[in-house]
Amino acid sequence: MDTIIILSIGLLAGCAIALSWFTGSDAPYVPTTMRLISKVLKAAGIKKGKVFYELGSGDGRVVIEAAKLGGKANGVEQSWLRVWLSRYNSRLSGTNKQTHFCHGNIFDRNYYPADIVYIYLLKPAVEKLEHKLKKELNKGSIVITQTYHFKKWKPYKKMGTKTSDFRLGGDFQFYRV
Ligand SMILES: C[S@@+](CC[C@H](N)C(=O)[O-])C[C@H]1O[C@@H](n2cnc3c(N)ncnc32)[C@H](O)[C@@H]1O
Repeated sequence: MDTIIILSIGLLAGCAIALSWFTGSDAPYVPTTMRLISKVLKAAGIKKGKVFYELGSGDGRVVIEAAKLGGKANGVEQSWLRVWLSRYNSRLSGTNKQTHFCHGNIFDRNYYPADIVYIYLLKPAVEKLEHKLKKELNKGSIVITQTYHFKKWKPYKKMGTKTSDFRLGGDFQFYRV
């Protein structure tokens, strides 16, 4: 009987962790396809010394790529599991000295040190960030949105194609503050 109770609790805990893996308050976890990301980051001017922020950084793949290209790369992510995985992935890739992953809500922080910001979130969050980033970022900073874009800012560049096939890499818009 005890074994059945322990197994049931273990199973429930496992299911809760598995379900929580996909959740996020302002977007579920859908990672960026890496096919285009290096080109996208280079087009935004990532290089040594540039400060990069990803808001809702998932498993850290884009932050790690930004660090490989020389940036001081930061991710903010609300899932502890994904923050741990990001730190682990960064260590594995040898970029951990140039990356920093914070656990928390993206709306509780200020991004004024950023030169480049990358966002892949759902429409309502992107809309809120449109106002927040306009106030906080320095003139000349660059924001990249993926799939859901700013309504009021005028993009100076577009890359990729809009399609529901995520394997193709998504579509990106670039804005300058
Ligand atoms: C669509 S996924 C994108 C993941 C990653 N940016 C990428 O492109 O591979 C959105 C991520 O944002 C996180 N997220 C959603 N709302 C958030 C919030 N308010 N604060 C911090 N992270 C959030 C989710 O947990 C999820 O990992």
